[in-house]
Amino acid sequence: MWVGRKSGFLTRITDNWLRPSPADLKRAVGVEFQKLKSHVEAKLEEKRLEIEASEQVPASAKDRIDLSLPGVIRPIGSHHLVRTVMQEIEDIFFSIGFSVVEGPEIETPYYNFEALNIPEHHPVRDDMDTFYLDLPKSAPGPLLLRTHTSPVQIRTMEKRRPPVRVIVPGKVYRRDNPDATHSFVFHQIEGLAVDTDITFCDFTGTIEYFVKQFFGESVKTRFRPSYFPFTEPSVEFDVSCIFCGGSGTGASGATCGKCKGSGWIELFGAGMVDPAVYGFVNYDAKKVSGFAFGMGMDRLAMLKYGIDDIQVFFQNDVRFLKQFP
Ligand code: PHE
Repeated sequence: MWVGRKSGFLTRITDNWLRPSPADLKRAVGVEFQKLKSHVEAKLEEKRLEIEASEQVPASAKDRIDLSLPGVIRPIGSHHLVRTVMQEIEDIFFSIGFSVVEGPEIETPYYNFEALNIPEHHPVRDDMDTFYLDLPKSAPGPLLLRTHTSPVQIRTMEKRRPPVRVIVPGKVYRRDNPDATHSFVFHQIEGLAVDTDITFCDFTGTIEYFVKQFFGESVKTRFRPSYFPFTEPSVEFDVSCIFCGGSGTGASGATCGKCKGSGWIELFGAGMVDPAVYGFVNYDAKKVSGFAFGMGMDRLAMLKYGIDDIQVFFQNDVRFLKQFP
C-alpha cells in the first residue's frame, strides 16, 4: 500500500506532488517527502523484525521433513479366490495341451441356445432362466446374458478347424434367487476337445486327471448318465466326498452333512459333443469326435477351500479375501 512501485502512496506522491510542484517550492516539498519516506521505511523494518522474532522455528529448519515419522500405510488387496482357482484349473489344463479362449457375456439366442441344439420351446430353456436385455423395438433381434459358457464352443469351432483343445473361463448369468448355493452371476469353465479320433476313454481319462490334480490323488471319480442337448451321451461327474473321504460319515460318526451320507459329491456336467452341433459349425460329424464339459468354478472353489456360502465371492469383503493370498 505504501511502497508498491506502481501505485503505492510514495510513488503517487512523487508523481502527483513532487514532480509537478513549482520550482521555488520543490526543495521544501522534497525535504518533507524524504522525511515521510524514511518514516515509512523505518516502520516497515520494525514490523519485519517483529514478525521474524515471533516465528518460533528458525527459518532454516522450517522446511525439513522428519524421516523418523511412520509413513502412511496403504492397504494392499489380494487375489480373489475365484481368480486363484481359475488359474489353478488353467494350469492343469495347460499341462495337457489345452489353451484358453474367451467369449462375450452378452449373447444372441443363436449361440446360447440354437447352435447348441436347443431349439425354441425346448424345456432346457426353462431350466436356464435367462436375463434378456431391454432393447428398443428397432433392434435387429433379442440379446441375452449368456446362461453358460457353452456358446464359446460354437464361436471357437466356427473359427478353428480340428484339432481343437480349449478351455473357456468366464461369468455366466441366471435368474436365480441368491442363497448359499445360488447367485444370479457365477463363474464357469468350459472345456472342448475335438479331433479325428477322440474316444469316450480320452474323455473320462482327461476328467479324472483333472480332478486328481485339483483335489488330490486320493479322490475317486464316477459318472452317471445325464442329459444335455449338445452332448450325447451326457454324463454328470461326481467326486468322492472331500470332507468324509467318501465314507459318508463324519469324524463323530454322524452322517456327513456335505454329501448327506452318500460319500459322493456332484461336480459338473459333460459329455461327447452331439453330432448335431457339428452341423452348425460345418464340421464333418463322420470324421470328427470330441468331448465337452462345463464346471462351476465357484462350486469347485467352495469344495476345495471349505466355503459354504457362494455369496462371499461377490461381497468382496477384504477380510475374507485376505485369507487366500
Ligand atoms: N453348459 C452346461 C450347463 O451350464 C454344462 C455342460 C457343458 C454340459 C458342456 C455338457 C457339456 O449346465
